[in-house]
Amino acid sequence: MNIYTKAINYLNRRVFRTPGVEFLRQNDDIDVRKKYLNFWLKRSRKKKSFQKYFFREVSKKNSQISFKNENYLLNDEMLDSLSNNGLLIIENALPEKEREKIIEYFDELKGHNQYLKNWTTKPHNPGFFKEVNEMMGKTNIKNFEYLSNYSAQFTKEIYGKIVEPTVELRYLKQEKNKIEEKVKGGTYIHTDRFLPHFKIYYTPHEITINDAPLEYVLSSHKINNNFINFYLNTKSYDETDKLFKNFEFERKIVCVPKNTLYIALTNGFHKRSQFNNNSERSLVFLQYVEKFNKIDYLF
Ligand SMILES: [Fe+2]
Repeated sequence: MNIYTKAINYLNRRVFRTPGVEFLRQNDDIDVRKKYLNFWLKRSRKKKSFQKYFFREVSKKNSQISFKNENYLLNDEMLDSLSNNGLLIIENALPEKEREKIIEYFDELKGHNQYLKNWTTKPHNPGFFKEVNEMMGKTNIKNFEYLSNYSAQFTKEIYGKIVEPTVELRYLKQEKNKIEEKVKGGTYIHTDRFLPHFKIYYTPHEITINDAPLEYVLSSHKINNNFINFYLNTKSYDETDKLFKNFEFERKIVCVPKNTLYIALTNGFHKRSQFNNNSERSLVFLQYVEKFNKIDYLF
């Protein structure tokens, strides 16, 4: 990596990164919050591609959420479902060869020893969870052809252009036979940020109810008066806030077979369920808050 790329990456990570709730956390005053939300949401509304997914109200309730991949291409039915639910699941997502390649990366994370794959940062434990061990490594999307192709299709559709994701492989393991304690920002239902954005997840293995599956509050991603009112007034940004009662919608727990990709519009409410056993989870995360950042929302 040359010095120019390093500098750009640093700026994207620290300065230009998509705004989260930091400003709101520091400002209780409702008028100040209103100005801030208006400023960013007004700009988001101008992005044509955001209209369908974040600003247009739900058109069909309870439509299909899970689809079986046939040709590695997204179709209108899938995208309509994503727009309405804020969540889309694609089973049988990658060719077996690419799934195996991803499993090899996770084998290195489990092994805790030699890191010979194309990691861009050396795998380490981010230290976020108390009772669960985690190993996280970053790599480049170019290592995974079909996953990269899904990423390109989703970003083109939702962000209006192809955006390169940051790719994190996260391996979680709980070794105790008990229900894990809840963790703020993780296993409490929360929202990541108020601006339109999303995450893509890929699991090479089956995820059961004991393996800490994602839980998503369907259609909680639509930016309407209810949504804005929450951000104007909230103190805790999660299910412990009294305003969360306005989001008691249907929920989906994402228990899926092996080789499944799913995407969640994560300005909507979600959490990782707690581990409920001696169990493990291997997940690839594709995120865009560094490469689709303040500058893209502004102009
Ligand atoms: Fe989150």
